[in-house]
Amino acid sequence: MPETFAKKDIYDKNGVLLLAKGQKTTDVVLIKLKKHGCYEQEAAVNSDVKQSEATSSIASALGERMNIRNDRVLEYSNKVLSNVIFGSKTKPWWIYVNALSNYVDWLYTHSIDVAIISLMIAVELRYNDDELWNLGLGAFMHDVGKLLIPKPILQKPGPLTDLEMEFMRQHCELGRSSLEPYCLPKEGMDIIFQHHERLDGSGYPKGLKGDEICRNAKIVMIADVVDAITAGRPYKPVREMDEAIKILRSDEGKYSKEFVFVLGKILE
Ligand SMILES: [Fe+2]
Ligand SMILES: [Fe+2]
Repeated sequence: MPETFAKKDIYDKNGVLLLAKGQKTTDVVLIKLKKHGCYEQEAAVNSDVKQSEATSSIASALGERMNIRNDRVLEYSNKVLSNVIFGSKTKPWWIYVNALSNYVDWLYTHSIDVAIISLMIAVELRYNDDELWNLGLGAFMHDVGKLLIPKPILQKPGPLTDLEMEFMRQHCELGRSSLEPYCLPKEGMDIIFQHHERLDGSGYPKGLKGDEICRNAKIVMIADVVDAITAGRPYKPVREMDEAIKILRSDEGKYSKEFVFVLGKILE
């Protein structure tokens, strides 16, 4: 049978992206779509509206998972992120935004989660609109380099070998070099390159320490760790938010105490 591909983004009734434009419509995928009451022919014409709904749907799932009672911060962060995503539609880096929704299952949701958690911290820190935009864009694109990591490594249902890990760790440099020609704001680009650095110098790719790491990357590294712990991965069980905060607090010297405190305050 010839391969077929989705002609448009396809969403369920809650606005969650089930199949992105260009993604292969295998039998398994078609069965899944039918289960959700969706058919390719029913793909939304106005994908902007639907994608916006998808973003809010991921944001509200995140709000529930994090048990966030401060709706104002969550809603405002979601609004900023929607503006960042739709504002990128006319920018040359749009192809990468689109690709994030189309590569491996968890990458798009993870990108949105990390952007929203980072933005919530920044809203509490009273970032202005421009600063929020730059942080939102960098946080949403932080793992863009993973688009160049082979899927079998990203989806491996077990711990990575040393060689695979070495390959995975290249995603910070790959992300930066992929986006370099597009002149993204430096505040966003630094996040892509530095979000796996740690304040005590134990991170990668450069082993930067303390204030050698930019403020935005210090926020995003916290959001990234929290999401990785609480959302689970093919090789990791899901853990509670309290546990994630405990891990961040106990990892002395790795994360900004100030920003962990702010996140803890949002979750109280
Ligand atoms: Fe990363
Ligand atoms: Fe990440």
